[in-house]
Amino acid sequence: MVGVRCCFKLLYAIVVLILLHMNNPCIGCSERERQALLALKQGLVPDYSDHLLSWGEKAQNKDCCEWDGVHCSNQTGHVVTLDLGYRHLRGKISPKLIELQHLEYLDLSGNNFKGSQIPAFIGSLSNLRYLDLSYANFGGLIPYQLGNLRNLHHLDLSCQSGFPIVHLDFPLMHSGSIYAKNLYWLPNLSRLKYLDITSVNLSDVVGWLEAVNILPKLTDLRLLMCNLPPPVISSVSLLNSSKSLVHVDLYNNRLNSSIFQFLLGTHTNLVYLELSENNLSGRIPESIGQMSNLEYIVLIGFLPFNCVR
Ligand SMILES: *[C@@H]1O[C@H](CO)[C@@H](O)[C@H](O)[C@H]1NC(C)=O
Ligand SMILES: *[C@@H]1O[C@H](CO)[C@@H](O)[C@H](O)[C@H]1NC(C)=O
Ligand SMILES: *[C@@H]1O[C@H](CO)[C@@H](O)[C@H](O)[C@H]1NC(C)=O
Ligand SMILES: *[C@@H]1O[C@H](CO)[C@@H](O)[C@H](O)[C@H]1NC(C)=O
Ligand SMILES: *[C@@H]1O[C@H](CO)[C@@H](O)[C@H](O)[C@H]1NC(C)=O
Ligand SMILES: *[C@@H]1O[C@H](CO)[C@@H](O)[C@H](O)[C@H]1NC(C)=O
Repeated sequence: MVGVRCCFKLLYAIVVLILLHMNNPCIGCSERERQALLALKQGLVPDYSDHLLSWGEKAQNKDCCEWDGVHCSNQTGHVVTLDLGYRHLRGKISPKLIELQHLEYLDLSGNNFKGSQIPAFIGSLSNLRYLDLSYANFGGLIPYQLGNLRNLHHLDLSCQSGFPIVHLDFPLMHSGSIYAKNLYWLPNLSRLKYLDITSVNLSDVVGWLEAVNILPKLTDLRLLMCNLPPPVISSVSLLNSSKSLVHVDLYNNRLNSSIFQFLLGTHTNLVYLELSENNLSGRIPESIGQMSNLEYIVLIGFLPFNCVR
């Protein structure tokens, strides 16, 4: 009898041990996702304070859903949010990031990627709805693979070579500037509501207007200091002007007065329009009066905005 009870206790202990060691998908993230996050941590060096301290191998840190900046779906348990903005990280983004296939929200803004290219594999995170890579010192060509992010609502690639106040401790973030040669990939992001590519060099992108114009849900368009060439207004851009636009900021580009042809008349929802520091000339078209929702318009003058905020 004693022997049987002893056996039971032993069995019980073994079962408990197995349960403790098993990766129960209902509690916390999967082993695959945990490994992906650990690989990510390995590539990203915190500058001085260890912001990723909670990302650990230790047993008490096992559930990566509890890690700093990581959030999991309360239904599936998968990692859906990676919120690592302004963590003073620098280094390389591990390609293992794409193992986080359920990721919907990715914020790596305000870190320092030292002029490296935005990794093309970010385009494989097909569930992304929110992507913020602003103020992160990326450089080079924007990968067209971002065009695969069909669920994206919010895209912010602004201000790569400007550094915000919190980064005064960074060495000068002036490295290879970021640019695009075309925006052929942009129309694929048909759910986009918010687009900010401020200070990305678009000087060669003649078709930029066509590309943004075709986005049916776009409400916010921020293309400040992009070196945008004058718009070429075609019948297509006039016919299919996005009617959803509410906020348009085209501060400091090379636009000529043809931009009014695109903006006026069709964009009755427009509330905010900024066109300062462009190459406008001639009369302001009278049809501006038809923009009945307009509350803020600046055509000429100095706006105290730059990427050093
Ligand atoms: C799951 O999360 C969503 C969004 O964060 C929240 O609205 C919802 O109430 C949560 N459901 C449960 C059962 O906790
Ligand atoms: C855009 O979508 C089309 C299919 O609709 C696809 O063939 C093409 O590769 C996509 N382009 C980019 C740059 O993702
Ligand atoms: C932007 O790109 C154009 C052409 O590729 C180049 O001539 C120009 O110097 C670039 N501007 C900046 C500010 O890097
Ligand atoms: C332009 O708009 C018309 C009518 O709203 C629509 O049928 C057509 O598909 C649009 N064309 C493009 C290229 O978006
Ligand atoms: C603006 O520039 C475009 C392209 O160079 C040109 O076709 C158009 O005539 C210009 N518009 C005005 C008002 O100068
Ligand atoms: C501004 O437009 C005029 C023509 O209207 C052109 O000659 C000039 O080069 C333009 N300036 C810039 C900086 O693009």
